[in-house]
Order: sequence, then structure tokens, then C-alpha cells
Amino acid sequence: MRYFDFLAPVYDWFMPSADPDMWIDLLRLPADGSLIDIGGGTGRVGAELRPLVRSVVISDISTGMLKGALRKGALQAVAADAARMPFQDGAFSRAIMADALHHFSDQEGAVREMFRLLAPGGRLVIEEFDRRRLPVKALALGEKALFMGSRFLTPSQICRMVEACGASASVRKGPYFSVWIVADKPN
Ligand SMILES: C[S@@+](CC[C@H](N)C(=O)[O-])C[C@H]1O[C@@H](n2cnc3c(N)ncnc32)[C@H](O)[C@@H]1O
Repeated sequence: MRYFDFLAPVYDWFMPSADPDMWIDLLRLPADGSLIDIGGGTGRVGAELRPLVRSVVISDISTGMLKGALRKGALQAVAADAARMPFQDGAFSRAIMADALHHFSDQEGAVREMFRLLAPGGRLVIEEFDRRRLPVKALALGEKALFMGSRFLTPSQICRMVEACGASASVRKGPYFSVWIVADKPN
């Protein structure tokens, strides 16, 4: 958490912008209802999708990162641990996690919460680096050297977490050695 509070003022300068077209396709947007971006940081991804849903909530454990999200305007920001979210069941029609799951200390809990927050018929998308790829192995070593506590997973491990919640998950190839895990909550 402190690490991202420290990085927050410069985060958007060094991160590549999100590709809204890919997210629009993956999330089947526009959609009725609201979208939650869990571990959403400065709203790098969520802000791009704001015109396509009723509202966008950026949740994150770092208040520094959330200040960046609020500066973008038209986003709601909520400070919360991804594994203990302060929303009722089914509050969102879309839920995303981008480049965040490997930072969470309770990964299974975070995926369970993501699924709980999703309305029946809603869709979740998790973007994560693929632990099997060589550059990701190097990134994992770098983050380990910085004591970031990251834990990178394989796409199958993430799918199993999602499927344990009761949905079937599919994997698509993403940018920069990442994958997208996509799942719909059954009606
Ligand atoms: C690499 S950033 C990604 C931010 C954003 N999703 C993006 O793609 O630009 C990872 C984010 O996860 C957040 N994070 C780490 N642990 C968390 C937790 N337990 N609950 C919620 N957010 C957490 C960090 O504060 C940080 O903002």
C-alpha cells in the first residue's frame, strides 16, 4: 500500500494508457448499471469507460492512488481492501481488475468479492500478467527485490478461482504478456 502511495503522483506518467476499444469489446459495453474497477488505482482504465455505464467506482487500498482517480473527475473513489468490499451483493453490472490481482494479499478473497458484487448476468474481466512468460518472470523477480509482496498466477490458476465462484471463465491474449480472464455471472 505504501509503495503505491509513494508512486501515485507519477503513476500515470509511466504507465501506458488503457486501450478503451479492447475493454469495450471484452466488457460488452455500453451497459446498464455501474462498473467497479477493483484495485483501480488512479482510474487509468475505469476513466476510459465512464461514458459507457451509469457510473464508475474506483476502489483501491491506496488513498494516494485514489486521489489521482478523483482528479480525473466523474469517477467515484472508495478506499477498500479488495477482499472486503463495502457494497451489497449484485451492486454492479460490470467488474474489472487490471494489473492488480498479483498485488493482493488475499487473491481468492478478492476474486470471491468481485463475483459477489456482480449482478446476475453481469460480466467480470481480470487483466493479469501471465506468469509463464519470461518477461513476467523477470518482472516478478524485480518486484520481489523491491519487497512488493507480489504473487503472479497462471491463467489457469485465475480461471480456477473464478470457476470456484460458480461461473465458467475464458482466457484471451492481452497486451504486454498479459491475459484477460472473462466470466459472466449466471442469471
Ligand atoms: C499496478 S496498480 C494497477 C492500478 C490500475 N488498475 C491500473 O491498471 O492502472 C495495482 C493497484 O492495486 C492496489 N492494491 C494493492 N493491494 C490492494 C488491496 N489489497 N486491495 C485493493 N487494492 C490494492 C494498489 O494500491 C494499486 O493501486
